Formats: sequence, C-alpha cells, structure tokens
Amino acid sequence: MSYPWQKPGLTPDQQAAAVVAAMTTDEKFAWLSGPMAIPLTKDDKLPPEAIGSAAYYPAIPRLGIPALQQSDASLGVSALGGVRPGDHATALPSSLALGASFDPQLAEASGELLGREAFSKGFNVQLAGGANLIREPRGGRNFEYISEDPLLTGIIAGHSVRGIQSQHVVSTVKHFAVNAQETGRVLADSRLNESALRESDLLAFELAIEIGEPGAVMPGYNLINGHWASENAFLLSQVLKGDWRYPGWVMSDWGATHSATKAALAGLDVQSGANLDQQVWFDRPLREAVDRGEIKATKIDEMIRRILRSLFACGAIQHPAQRGRPIDYSWHQLIAQREAEQGIVLLKNDRNTLPLAPELSRILVVGAHADQGVLAGGGSSAVTPQGSLQFEGVDFMGIQTPKVYHPSSPLAAIRHNSLAKRVDFVSGESLDEALTAAEGSDAVIVFAEEWRSEALDAQGLSLDAHQNQLITRLSAVHSTVIVVLQTGGAVTLPWLESVPALLEAWYPGSGGGEAIAGVLFGRVNPAGRLPITFPADDQQLPHPTQKDPNTTTSLPGVEITGEVFEIDYNVEGADVGYRWFARQQHKPLFPFGFGLSYTQFCYENLQLSQTYGKISASVTLTNSGERSGSEVVQIYLRPVSGRYPSRLVAFKKVTLDAGESQRIDLGIEPRVIAQWDCTQQHWSITGEEVEIYQASDASSVGLTATVTLAAQSFGYPRH
Ligand code: BGC
Repeated sequence: MSYPWQKPGLTPDQQAAAVVAAMTTDEKFAWLSGPMAIPLTKDDKLPPEAIGSAAYYPAIPRLGIPALQQSDASLGVSALGGVRPGDHATALPSSLALGASFDPQLAEASGELLGREAFSKGFNVQLAGGANLIREPRGGRNFEYISEDPLLTGIIAGHSVRGIQSQHVVSTVKHFAVNAQETGRVLADSRLNESALRESDLLAFELAIEIGEPGAVMPGYNLINGHWASENAFLLSQVLKGDWRYPGWVMSDWGATHSATKAALAGLDVQSGANLDQQVWFDRPLREAVDRGEIKATKIDEMIRRILRSLFACGAIQHPAQRGRPIDYSWHQLIAQREAEQGIVLLKNDRNTLPLAPELSRILVVGAHADQGVLAGGGSSAVTPQGSLQFEGVDFMGIQTPKVYHPSSPLAAIRHNSLAKRVDFVSGESLDEALTAAEGSDAVIVFAEEWRSEALDAQGLSLDAHQNQLITRLSAVHSTVIVVLQTGGAVTLPWLESVPALLEAWYPGSGGGEAIAGVLFGRVNPAGRLPITFPADDQQLPHPTQKDPNTTTSLPGVEITGEVFEIDYNVEGADVGYRWFARQQHKPLFPFGFGLSYTQFCYENLQLSQTYGKISASVTLTNSGERSGSEVVQIYLRPVSGRYPSRLVAFKKVTLDAGESQRIDLGIEPRVIAQWDCTQQHWSITGEEVEIYQASDASSVGLTATVTLAAQSFGYPRH
C-alpha cells in the first residue's frame, strides 16, 4: 500500500500538505492538544499504544502516520515518575559539562547517542535542546542549560539538536525564552527591552535553530514583557515564525497554556500537557473559535502542517522509531564518559598536586556518596539508569522526582586507577570520623555536592554549611585536600585558599566516576573551560536577591493564585554573566572561559582580515608543555571607546601533541558584534575601532589586534 506522501520527489512541505489534505477534523484536533502520558492518579489510564512518557498523540494508520511519542529531555531518555519501571538509559553529563567542553563535535555525538536511545525506545520526539542563557546563577535548571554566552550556547545546543535529529527523532529547543529561574516560574514576568533580548537570549536560540533545525520549539512557563511565552505574539509570530522563518511547530510547556484564540493567533501550535492546564484549550474552545470565525480553518491546517513537516524533514515518518531495537549501553557509557572528561574543569592546581602519583600509599575519599555514584540534577530531565541511588526529591506537577546518584562510583574508579595500598571512604557526615580517617593519608579527596532541580532554585550560591565546615576542618589538618565539585552551577568557595587542588565535575553522568578518576590520575588531561562565571558572592550579581526563593514555584496544574511579578532583566540587559562583571568591574572568583591543563599553550602572531565586512582571525597555537592536551582558543572583541564590554566572538577546541603547533582560523559571527536597532528593525554594526584579542578567559587579555569595523546593517526579509 502506498500513501500520498510517498510520491517520489516531494519535499517535506509537500509531503506534509498531502497528509493534511487527507486528514479529518477530528484527526487534526487529536494532535493539537494532549495530556501528559504519565498517570498522575490511580484512576488515570494511558491509551494502550502510549509508551508512557511526557506525551502521546495517536497514530493515523490509514495515512501511514505513526503516533507521536514524546520523551524528556537533553540529558538522556528519562522515565519521569518511574513511568516505565525497570527502564535503563544512559545518563549524559549535565549540559553545563557540554558547554564546558566548548566542543560542537562532542555535542553532536552526544545528541546522536540520545537520538539513538530515544529511537530504540520507540520515541520520535525528544524534548531536548535546553538553550536558555544562564542569567540567574541560582537557577534550578541551569544544569540543563549550556552557558551564559549566546554564541557558545547557540553553537553547542544547535549541534546537539543536529545529532538527535540525525537519528530520525525530532528535537525541541526550549524554553523559549528568558526562562531563567524556577522561583515562581509560572508567574515570573521577564522584562527585557527588544534590543537586549535580540542580542542575548534570542540570539542563542536563533543560532541553535539555524544550526540544528529543530523540529519544534517549546516556549517557557514564564511571561516575557507582560505576555505568557505560550501566547507571546512578538516572540512566536514576529520573531520566530516571521523574522527567522521558522518552519517547525511550537508546542507549549506542560501546563503552560492560558488561552485558545489568543495563543493560537500568537503562534502556539500545540497545547502540551493539557491535563495540567485549567482547560483543554486546543480542543473544544479552539473548534468553537473556528466556528465563530475567529480562527480560520486554514490556520488549523497550518498548525498540523508544521508538525508533519518537521516529522518528514527528519525522517520520523519514513523511518518510524523501533521500540525494542537493542541499545549498546557499554558503548554509550563510554561516550558519556568522554563527554564528562571533556567537560571537567581544573580550577586550581597548586604545587602540581594533580595528577596524583599512582603509587601514593593511602588515599581517603570523603563525601557525596562517592562510594556509590555521581549526583544528577532533578526534575523532568533526570535519567534513572538501573542501579541508581535515589533519595526523596521534589514533587512537581503531582509527580515525585527523586534526587538521583548515577551508578558510576568515583571510589571504585579511584581504586582502579591507583596502586595505593589503601583507598578508604567515609561519608563525611561526621567531622570527627573524617578528621581521624585523614590522619596518615597521603591525599584526601573530598567530593562536595550541590543539588539543583527543576522547580527548585538554589537558595543562594553557597554550598551547605556542613560541607564548607568539613573542607575547612580537613584542610586545616591536611595539606593535600583535593576538592571535586558536583554542582548545578556556580557556587562560592570560602575555603579556596586552603586547598591546593579543585575540580568542577558538574553532574557527570553515567561515566562520571571514571571521568573524574581519569583527571585525578592524569589519564585525562583536563580541557574543560567554565561556561559560566563563578561570582565571589551574591552581591556581585545584577540581582543580588531573588523574590521568595524558598517558595520556589507555583506549579502548573495548581490554580495560579499568586500575583504575576516582574523581574527587571534590563538591569544587566544583554550584558549577561561575564559581560556584567566587566561592566561593573567586579572581580569574580573564577571568570568565564577559565580552566587549567596539565600542559601549557602559547600563542603567536594574531592576524585579522576583513572581507566584505566579515572578520576572520588567525593565530598560531603551540603546545609548549610536556604532554598532549586540548586548548579552547577564545577570541574576544571590545570597542576602543569602551561603549560596551568585551564579547566572546569566536572559539575553537584544538588538541595538540607536546611540542606541536597549529595555525588556527576562526570566523566571527557578525550578529555577535552587532547591535539590534529597534527603530529600523535590523542589525547594525557601527564603523568604529575595536580590539580583537585572544584570551585564556573573560578576565584576561592576550595577543591583541586593532581593526576598524566596516559600518553595515542587515536584517530579515520583512513578512
Ligand atoms: C518541563 C519541560 C518538560 C515537560 C515535560 C515541564 O515541566 O519544563 O522541560 O519537557 O515538563 O515533561
């Protein structure tokens, strides 16, 4: 049997149009809203065909169209609320680790892994592609996002999406946009003027969408300039579908839709998690709006066409997901381990404490359940491989989401990597026990952790008092205390001066223990660079305090009783993260882009060229140390006038053997150096003198060249 879309030579648009033409009205509306495909009460029953995941929309067998089976998220195929008991999946390191790798190829490989697992579990839509800028360093979901910089975020998110979709699984990008905190997440109104918006958060999404061509975009829970993201005509119609000519579909976040006509006209195509909203808007109310003539029937067709077009474009219909196809989990664990290895950042290494000599005779490992596994962030993105250690976590949307430790024990990996006669472990709960155990050890490795979750912002930037005290007391009696952080973002480090070595391992995923041990003992030469600034304290932030962080969130599904409240992101505007620190001349604890290596790199001969207004930089990089290693070449730009703070304008991850040199070429993305002109509605580059320089992080300046930018403006074909 053949279907209309199988006619040879059709484009995805034509294939989608052929299916839409053959669909009944009921078939169309069955795809415009749907409940969460996870039972929330004992009485909730899933349709038998639903695998059990974030969402399910029925197949249309007579047209050869498979069901839509949608699963979370960016960090692996999760089984929220234990919906698929006994399910196993590879846990990827947090997106911050991927950001720290500065490596688009790695992002693509990790996306491929995710797409492969989703496909083999029967899913054809993966709710991945977290691309929010990290504006609020205490944000509970920062571990699902990549960085505070639009260029880095856009490139890494785009490549990760590309990897997922190469496996015939549609990926989203989310949560569009300026969805920076969990506190009051359905009531927070992110205020940001259009120029700043376009130059920061929107730019990250714009680049990610250009590179990855995600099939769907998910607006956030929040409001932007007074309108909910899911019914924000400026964001969805003017920018996304208008200026950017985005051809895919817009699906709301779960329980984030607030209207039928308004949302549909603003550009929302699908009401997801509709059972969590106050009403199923995109069924009866939308049908009635069509009957009343408020919405044209052709608009409904367009909404469906967008979904089908994306499915055809990535082959999800032509190559339906194969539930039960075998997954090579050992291979995937190795990929996850490589990613963690590339994302671990060596923040301090006095006296060349690291790498540890394998022949130390006694090592003590302390804290964070390092005998069992590595910490994961919580919420809809949390993957729970078999063997995970679980504690009570948070309840959101009526679902219990645990605090999870992935089964990759750092202690076991340290034992494996060392020749020590004794490698002991203490939990760290008792200070006395830890202090006694440290006596006579050659090195003490303390694992410090900070758990963040969806629906739960960090309550300040500090680690808990007990862990700070533990590290302070241990370092007072022992000169070789090495701290390994597992955090969901930046934290403050009051004991920093008294420890010789420090690693940031983020949430390192299924191969995390092995990756950490690899860096500690030198099998891996650390190459991660901070994708976020580590502030010295909360007072340095554009918003030193958060409104009611302990109340955390108003939950979808629960009547919204609180008041909408504004967060004025115009304070920092487009100067997010390191740009804010430069503007205020704050000295951070560690700057964006910072990270040490076991080798040294040197730079020579920075040259610039400008052709037709496009600037390229080239520089010679040499590994001048004694072992091979990777460097992240970072190029920044600042106007000589000081009109705005430095911006990262290009980067490249390069691996060199000891003694090897390479000439590195980097192109500069014009939008990163442009300003958005609201009146003219176009990008504009001012013809002014700028310094373009190489630097090892956002607080330093290396080789510098000066150039006068060619004045230019460029925009979007108006619609
Ligand atoms: C999250 C989304 C997620 C959805 C479905 C929401 O709570 O914000 O990121 O994709 O749930 O589980």
